[in-house]
Order: sequence, then C-alpha cells, then structure tokens
Amino acid sequence: MSISIFSAADIASHLGELGRLLHACVHDGASISFVLPYSQADSEAFWSTKVLPGVEEGTRLVLVAMVEGRIAGSVQLNRDTPPNQPHRAEVNKLLVHPDFRRQGIGLQLMAELERLAREIGRSLITLDTRTGDKAEPLYAALGYQTVGVIPGFARDPMGGDRLDATTIMYKTL
Ligand SMILES: CC(C)(COP(=O)(O)OP(=O)(O)OC[C@H]1O[C@@H](n2cnc3c(N)ncnc32)[C@H](O)[C@@H]1OP(=O)(O)O)[C@@H](O)C(=O)NCCC(=O)NCCS
Repeated sequence: MSISIFSAADIASHLGELGRLLHACVHDGASISFVLPYSQADSEAFWSTKVLPGVEEGTRLVLVAMVEGRIAGSVQLNRDTPPNQPHRAEVNKLLVHPDFRRQGIGLQLMAELERLAREIGRSLITLDTRTGDKAEPLYAALGYQTVGVIPGFARDPMGGDRLDATTIMYKTL
C-alpha cells in the first residue's frame, strides 16, 4: 500500500476511480453528505466541482491510498480556514473502499494527514462524524477528543426520514 498526494492533474485523470470510491461508500451506507439515489455521475461531479477547485487553489490536500494499482482509500485536509485560525485544519471525506476495509488503511491515511498538517504548520485538527459510526473508534484510537454530540444533524444517507446525530472531535498535534 502506498499513500500519495494527488495533484489537480492526478484528480482530473482519476475522476472515474475516485468517483467509484465515493459512490461505493455512499451506497454502503456511509453518512458523508450525500443521500440515495446517488449516481456515479453525481460522485464524479463532486470530485470535479467541489474537490478539484480547492486543490487548484491550494486550500485542500487530497491523499490517496493505492493497493496494487487500485485506489483503495482517500482523505482530504481542508486548510481553508479564516485568518484567525491559521493553525487549524479540518478532516474531510475519509473514505476506504468496502473491498479494502479493516486493513489499517484508514488509520494510515489519517497518520499521513496529520504528518502533512504538522508540516504546513497546523496544530489543531477538527472533524465531525456520525455518532456511533465505525469512524468514531478509529478517531478515538488516534487520540481525537470528543467535544460533544449534535442530535438530528444529518439525514439518513439511505433516503429514510431518520435524522442522525453527529459527534464533533478534535486533536491537538
Ligand atoms: C471508517 C473507515 C474510513 C475505516 O477505514 P478502515 O481502513 O476500514 O479502518 P482501519 O482498518 O484503519 O481501522 C482502524 C480502527 O477503526 C475501527 N473500525 C474500523 N472499522 C470498524 C468497524 N466496521 N466496526 C468497528 N470499528 C471499526 C477499529 O477500531 C479499527 O481498529 P481494529 O481493526 O484494530 O479493530 C471506513 O469504514 C469507511 O470508509 N467508511 C465509510 C466512510 C466514512 O464513514 N468515513 C468517515 C467519515 S467521518
């Protein structure tokens, strides 16, 4: 497994595969902004219209984990913080393809994200994750502290009426 930073050109040339990664996670029930129905075209549009511009302007770093030439996972470091928070960055879209789960890829992506955050002078990492989801113990294992829970935060990704809570977490590097 190797982890690399994807440039804007890398993202543009891997839109199909990055789209399949996000599409698979959404269809697997992940609560990551989207709600079914969610198509491969929707997913590719997310990478090209929401992620790519941030990478081009330098406000977003995209890390990609590859296993035997396949994209197995990804995470983004969002450094688009206001002038009074130059020391903070946010974790966005930690994704591991269902075919590659429970092999430590999520943990390794986060470790590399933290290394990069330190390198660019960020000492506070913040994130939120659906309360009770599998990502919560992953972040806790890495030393993220829970600030609290906001109930009724996001819609059921499978399209039902339920509203799920979110847990706000942070780590000081
Ligand atoms: C959350 C996610 C990124 C984990 O990726 P992963 O590569 O499978 O995680 P790892 O193998 O590094 O697991 C690290 C630890 O996280 C926890 N964890 C991961 N998957 C878990 C699961 N299904 N159930 C319970 N704990 C789990 C465990 O503590 C695990 O350590 P262990 O395997 O030694 O028990 C992956 O399941 C995913 O992409 N989910 C959908 C997208 C999502 O919800 N992302 C988080 C957005 S905030």
